[in-house]
Amino acid sequence: SANDAPRAQQPSAPYDSAFLKACRREPVPHTPVWFMRQAGRSLPEYRKVREGIGMLESCMRPDLVTEITLQPVRRHGVDAAIYFSDIVVPLKAIGVDLDIKPGVGPVVERPIRTRADLAQLRDLTPEDVSYVTEAIGLLTRELGGTPLIGFAGAPFTLASYLVEGGPSRTYENAKAMMYGDPELWAELLDRLADITAAFLKVQIEAGASAVQLFDSWAGALAPVDYRRSVLPASAKVFEAVAGYGVPRIHFGVGTGELLRLLGEAGADVVGVDWRVPLDEAARRVGPGKALQGNLDPTVLFAPTEAVEAKTREVLDSAAGLEGHVFNLGHGVMPSTDPDALTRLVEYVHTHTAR
Ligand code: CP3
Repeated sequence: SANDAPRAQQPSAPYDSAFLKACRREPVPHTPVWFMRQAGRSLPEYRKVREGIGMLESCMRPDLVTEITLQPVRRHGVDAAIYFSDIVVPLKAIGVDLDIKPGVGPVVERPIRTRADLAQLRDLTPEDVSYVTEAIGLLTRELGGTPLIGFAGAPFTLASYLVEGGPSRTYENAKAMMYGDPELWAELLDRLADITAAFLKVQIEAGASAVQLFDSWAGALAPVDYRRSVLPASAKVFEAVAGYGVPRIHFGVGTGELLRLLGEAGADVVGVDWRVPLDEAARRVGPGKALQGNLDPTVLFAPTEAVEAKTREVLDSAAGLEGHVFNLGHGVMPSTDPDALTRLVEYVHTHTAR
């Protein structure tokens, strides 16, 4: 059942957890595991509590956020919780007219295309997101020694939604601004960096033990454009939270050519998708960083033996790393069998126990 999932012994304080040790590249009792999108539609208990409640509304209710964040920890015995929210929550909190449409994603009412449209963005204050502070207070008490990961969308990925007006495959409007009006683009990303930094600070000050910056769509960019037009804004975010000493994770999809730059932006841990094996990713990132990843999330639709074989491949390619946090290469897909995730956590714990 959901509550007797085998789990690694829990540390008494987050600082001593396998997850934070791996992020700091210290020796670990076992390789820590968590999953991007571990809270969400793959879980029947999630679908039940979300019934009749919109996604954004649920993100603003501390009782629901707490329950949903804890669900995968209880069920799977993962080594870290990730705060239940969405990358567009801080934008909503400062008054941007947007919604999250089921099966679609974030949709922005008035896309940002001109300098005048920038007026939609103002600085974020802790009062704008008081429900986040409240929920994290509740959560850290419930979680005990299990660390809580806070997160935010990176300036480029947020800009992609704001400029396109919704999800996109090509980012044509965002790229048109980036190449055609670099000054406006830089101003937009700089404002988003300030909002993102303020949002991460709220989460850390409330008790988050690590933060992850999701630049999910950065893989759409060539390294030269990433370095010139995106990295400065993401670096500003990482620099703003450097003083807290909590590990900073940087993740994107299809970022094989950007891995070194994702680290250079200021991350302590670089997230890797399934397209680059971890030993090769470590060479690309260079020394001094832990890696997170990178099982293809669709592997979980195969029989258990195949999942285990692919998991062994990931663990083998991570064998020489200084710090490894096991994760999927992208988020859990909604139709994933939750029992396959529970078995995967157990498999990684058992096969990496030292
Ligand atoms: O468990 C966790 O990882 C925490 C929860 C989380 C959500 N969104 C909840 C959510 C996190 C970390 C995010 C981040 C997020 N949101 C990203 C970056 C991560 C990634 O997957 O690359 C992005 C690009 C978004 C934007 C977004 N929000 C999309 C693309 C979608 C999916 C649309 C759909 O319905 O398929 C959302 C909605 C969303 N965010 C859901 C959840 C659980 C589904 C909404 C629902 O359950 O009704």
